[in-house]
Amino acid sequence: MTKLARSFLFVPADSEKKINKALQSAADALVLDLEDSVMPTRKKLAREALAELLTAPPGDYRGTLWVRINPLTTEYALDDLCAVVGPSLGGILLPKCEGPRDVETASNFIAALAAKAGLKSESIGILAVATETAAAPFALGDYHKAVLPRLWGLTWGAEDLSSAIGAATNKSPNGEWAFTYKMVRSQCLLAAKASGVQCIETLYVDYKDTEGLLASCIEARREGFTGRFAIHPAQVDGINEGFMPSAGEVEHAHRIIAAFDAAGDSGTVGLDGQMLDIPHLKQAQKVLQLHAAFATA
Ligand code: COA
Ligand code: MG
Repeated sequence: MTKLARSFLFVPADSEKKINKALQSAADALVLDLEDSVMPTRKKLAREALAELLTAPPGDYRGTLWVRINPLTTEYALDDLCAVVGPSLGGILLPKCEGPRDVETASNFIAALAAKAGLKSESIGILAVATETAAAPFALGDYHKAVLPRLWGLTWGAEDLSSAIGAATNKSPNGEWAFTYKMVRSQCLLAAKASGVQCIETLYVDYKDTEGLLASCIEARREGFTGRFAIHPAQVDGINEGFMPSAGEVEHAHRIIAAFDAAGDSGTVGLDGQMLDIPHLKQAQKVLQLHAAFATA
């Protein structure tokens, strides 16, 4: 399965300069974009650049290469997939996804194209943007009921949803997400967890505000999100840091596991005057898994 990732750096696929810059970045993953950052007149050129990159990628980028294709309802999606299903493709970011059937459709296309190219396709994941149309949030409860072996994660977006519903803004006067966006964000998180897949936080638009980004990533990780999109290379370090357990958390997790080990078969232990039971043990194990996945990154 496609590797875990904290940071996903968006790069317009028609910009050779930005692609080269992104390949030098510390992002765990790149999202080579064929959708909204590429004008219709440049889609073909962008596809051709990606076809070449994904066949023979430069050897020194250590992360995963994802591609955001155009929505399945557009004239572009099939040409996008034909161009990018190649040996170095790690996954497809599927925008305007309206439910598990869209994931199945994309998955079947990927399998057929990979077979045509003589490639195995199990390692190509799908990250579905599951809240971008007015109808999409109603399908969030369906993902966990479907069998979607290629589904790697779910993510949410506020920009397209506000445009789809004719909203003048997606923020409250205090700067927080307005209720509709908070609601779909939480539902997306629950849908991902119910499906046993990653949940990726939406982008942080103000790319000059690195402090605000870090604080917001730490908060998102505490809520259960496992990574976030970057729109500018300057956001990558903050995202990597924000989604990595802190040294204090790692140490505490080790102590929790040691306390359970020492207690033998007991499902509950005391540590620093606090009662801990199996959910705390599982959480500690998750912290250590996450730390191990990225400690050498
Ligand atoms: N990936 C790789 N390189 C990027 C980059 C990105 N996403 N964003 C900026 N850069 C590069 C610039 O080309 C510039 O390179 P240079 O120093 O060699 O000239 C450098 O980083 C500094 O960029 P800066 O001048 O601060 O920003 P900009 O005005 O060139 O670009 C954006 C601003 C928002 C247009 C740009 O960050 C961008 O294209 N972001 C991605 C947008 C996208 O993919 N959107 C779709 C998902 S919502
Ligand atoms: Mg969009």
